[in-house]
Amino acid sequence: MLTLYFSGTGNTKYIAEHFSKMAQAECHSIEEEVDFQELIVGASTVTFCYPIYGSCVPLIMREFVAKYKTYLDSKKIIILCTQNLFSGDGARVFTELLSRFYCPKVLFF
Ligand SMILES: Cc1cc2nc3c(=O)[nH]c(=O)nc-3n(C[C@H](O)[C@H](O)[C@H](O)COP(=O)(O)O)c2cc1C
Repeated sequence: MLTLYFSGTGNTKYIAEHFSKMAQAECHSIEEEVDFQELIVGASTVTFCYPIYGSCVPLIMREFVAKYKTYLDSKKIIILCTQNLFSGDGARVFTELLSRFYCPKVLFF
């Protein structure tokens, strides 16, 4: 399992690292300089973690998903987001970036 995250001030980084530790997943910030294509191709499940910015997925994450979209088509996707309120669409907005339609389960902690 692979976790990929973007975090501006650390909240999402904390969640991504904690989740990855529990799930025994490899965890990387999308700002790292690693071979993401190789990592994604080698994973059956990819977890994306991001903060809601302006009720949306941050631009850096949208650009990342657009770049690697082809390699994500066959993967099981888990979506985790952090936000202040439910002012945006939370995890659902991420599904619009992918080719497939999802009905995500939304859990609040
Ligand atoms: C530029 C900006 C825009 C934000 N927009 C929203 C928003 O629309 N809705 C919301 O609930 N939280 C919003 N937040 C709050 C963040 O989603 C929240 O603090 C998140 O946990 C930050 O994660 P991070 O520490 O990983 O960057 C925004 C924060 C920033 C900095």
